[in-house]
Amino acid sequence: MSVFFFTFAVKEKISLNLLDSRPHLLHSSPLKMTVNNQAYRTIWEKASDTRVIQIIDQRYLPHEFVIEDISTTEQMATAIRDMHLRGAPLIGAAAAYGMYLTIVNEGSNPTDDYLQKMADQLLQTRPTAVNLAWAVNLQLTALTTCHSHEERLATALKMAREITDSSVEKCFQIGQHGLSLIEKISAAKKGETINILTHCNAGWLACVDYGTATAPIYAAHKKGIDLHVWVDETRPRNQGARLTAWELLQEGIPHTVIADNVGGHLMQHGKVDMVIVGSDRTTRCGDVANKIGTYLKALAAKDNEVPFYVALPSSTIDWELRDGVKEIPIEERHANEVKYIQGMYDGKIQKVLLTPEESPATNFGFDVTPAHLVTGLITERGVCSADEEGIMGLFPDGDKES
Ligand code: MRU
Repeated sequence: MSVFFFTFAVKEKISLNLLDSRPHLLHSSPLKMTVNNQAYRTIWEKASDTRVIQIIDQRYLPHEFVIEDISTTEQMATAIRDMHLRGAPLIGAAAAYGMYLTIVNEGSNPTDDYLQKMADQLLQTRPTAVNLAWAVNLQLTALTTCHSHEERLATALKMAREITDSSVEKCFQIGQHGLSLIEKISAAKKGETINILTHCNAGWLACVDYGTATAPIYAAHKKGIDLHVWVDETRPRNQGARLTAWELLQEGIPHTVIADNVGGHLMQHGKVDMVIVGSDRTTRCGDVANKIGTYLKALAAKDNEVPFYVALPSSTIDWELRDGVKEIPIEERHANEVKYIQGMYDGKIQKVLLTPEESPATNFGFDVTPAHLVTGLITERGVCSADEEGIMGLFPDGDKES
């Protein structure tokens, strides 16, 4: 079907109107985000067989809801690289389960070299989101203490569950802290509709539940605050138009999809009260890598005195880095993602060519917004200034705390 996606795992397609018949699928925390009124996370262990991990295959949204079974580390690496799943916190959880699958499929006593080889498969998939390396390294460290296959299996599963559940908890807390910011704006506007602009998808589909940038939005909507979301379409992969719009629709939140270049115009005309975006990697000094185009929104926000917030769990902070523009690796993806566009036509998901076939294209996945353009960071511990002092004030022990 597609020129750039290669699927090895079994796919189960279900139409949206059949979703109500699916069982609840999770082992622990309560589920919060819903699809057709049924609660879902983005990744879980198959109810009938915990050696199989299931994910929502996001390549087909918003047109089809597809659950994919993943049974090997290779399949998980493919799912991350080819963006069956995406978004920094979810990539971290998926990588943790990817290491668990290494143990599931390796009955004997794996050498350190073998574990590192499997880890490298995952680490090489996407370079910008630091949650990937964070989760893989947590697994590798935990596994070094194990002496038997049973112990390794239990340890890797426990670690994958902890990383997944802690993402949910952190996103919930981000929602609560971001809610106070929205409440203040709502009070200042005397209850008038608040317009929030977001870029890409930093929603529950990018995490395990709730989302980062969307968590405050969901919390405010649940509290009855009148809000409306401007959704940047986010070329080339259109995570805003496809995924954020779909999420907001499921939750009944008023929103409007806009072309990527519209935000500045809206800000000039007082139609944006705040911007909230996510982060794939944040330096200890507050520079933020996020989906390509975020930087331009931050510049427009600064010029128009619109508050620009970045919502992130501490697992997204790279404590080793200070200068984001110089130090954060920026993923470059296939040019065909720019040259082609995917959508539903004639009842089928299809890709069409946009450019002259011979024209070269280039595809940087992320850019870095320097800290001085960021009004504040919304973390699971509270809101802080985007600088070392602010971040260390909330996380005094740095990487030992995430
Ligand atoms: O390329 P993607 O879709 O993985 O990029 C996702 C983003 O840029 C998100 O904004 C980021 O991961 C934050 S997710 C809560």
